[in-house]
Amino acid sequence: MADLTTNFIGITSPNPFWLASAPPTDKEYNVRRAFEAGWGGVVWKTLGEAGPPVVNVNGPRYGAIYGADRRLLGLNNIELITDRPLEVNLEEMRRVKRDWPDRALIASLMVPVNEDAWREILHRVEDTGCDGVELNFGCPHGMSERGMGSAVGQVPEYVGQVAHWCKKHSNLPVIVKLTPNITDIRKPAQAAKDGGADAVSLINTINSITSVDLDLFAPEPTIDGRGAHGGYCGPAVKPIALNMVAEIARDPATAGLPISGIGGVTTWRDAAEFMALGAGNVQVCTAAMTYGFKIVQEMISGLSQYMDDKGFTSVDQLVGRAVPNVVNWKDLNLNYVTKARINQDDCIKCGRCYAACEDTSHQAIAMSEDRVFTVKDDECVACNLCVNVCPIEGCITMERMAAGMVDPRTGEVVQDEYANWTTHPNNPGRCAAE
Ligand SMILES: Cc1cc2nc3c(=O)[nH]c(=O)nc-3n(C[C@H](O)[C@H](O)[C@H](O)COP(=O)(O)O)c2cc1C
Ligand code: SF4
Ligand code: SF4
Repeated sequence: MADLTTNFIGITSPNPFWLASAPPTDKEYNVRRAFEAGWGGVVWKTLGEAGPPVVNVNGPRYGAIYGADRRLLGLNNIELITDRPLEVNLEEMRRVKRDWPDRALIASLMVPVNEDAWREILHRVEDTGCDGVELNFGCPHGMSERGMGSAVGQVPEYVGQVAHWCKKHSNLPVIVKLTPNITDIRKPAQAAKDGGADAVSLINTINSITSVDLDLFAPEPTIDGRGAHGGYCGPAVKPIALNMVAEIARDPATAGLPISGIGGVTTWRDAAEFMALGAGNVQVCTAAMTYGFKIVQEMISGLSQYMDDKGFTSVDQLVGRAVPNVVNWKDLNLNYVTKARINQDDCIKCGRCYAACEDTSHQAIAMSEDRVFTVKDDECVACNLCVNVCPIEGCITMERMAAGMVDPRTGEVVQDEYANWTTHPNNPGRCAAE
């Protein structure tokens, strides 16, 4: 088994799987059980200022999107930060950290944009022995209406300012948790870095309305006939999160800034993808809420096995490995020519590929009277739609044409060398390399 020990901004944990700040990390009982199950660290449910705790709704706080097999794909919530007293949370954190010194324990914080408020909370959490703080600039509902959460994360100047205060008033490593509810994720990441933050974590939840009750004419979850937008998470948000992580990892202004990857991580493979795109570790919420804490054991064994297969002895060998291969469209090789291939032995003759290609792509699949489906190479543009709609995994594959062959669609010889849009004859702004 490969060693999964992770050192993220000086915080060590036995594996890169942390629970994100959310209900799974809301209290001592949960966190102890999470550590017993094997989680490498937790970001405690976000703490607010001392005084009367926040008040949650008493009606439903979740909505969901399902796949055809009712597997949960997306979760929407209107929960606020912790509604338990600050002193209780701090005391529980102190006890848990004392008993689990090898696990990472991070305090998630959200207080008003006011230096005194941040100084006060930092001093109190430092006293628990926790390993670092995560600044919740991401929560997009409820708290944002009060000028906190994503209301801060959407203004890079505030992000940088609060990160600066936190570095000034605490010796703890500072992670800035970013909101995806912004046009360009690189801006707040840069501001966090400029403010002195040690790392960023992303994504927090995405503004969402999951569904509308068509009898009540109100968004769901519905509270007494009304609904509010919530925060979306779970497997459905992973592609958005992966892209944002990659944007930060490959931007020269933020390259090298440590990233904690969050958003839809459900399997070891999801985690490995985040890490390959530059995340030093991952955080998980919805998967734990759906399947329970023991899901981490599959993640640990799967990642270990993968690393063994690859010959990686440390997670550092995985982190960022895919970043150089994330490029702009203009840098893609236009001489890479493929055609769809249907494996007749696997085909169940459902006809989905035919319908998709015939009606919405390039009329490149032929259907015989006895429902044998074949690709017309002289029409196939290799869009991959048939692969994506085919219900049998691996039944349709994209096969590369060797250099020197003639593409029957274009009549042109497939070239060996790499050539992209920047030098293409149709590009009026092409480089004058020739
Ligand atoms: C019910 C619920 C409550 C959450 N509360 C917090 C919170 O208090 N602080 C925070 O930073 N993120 C909070 N989050 C966001 C998660 O930490 C995480 O960023 C998000 O759910 C994406 O990860 P996932 O796709 O693994 O769920 C919450 C998420 C859910 C579902
Ligand atoms: S790859 Fe696209 S164009 Fe080619 S057969 Fe499939 S759907 Fe049609
Ligand atoms: S979608 Fe797949 S299984 Fe269905 S007919 Fe096409 S190749 Fe066969």
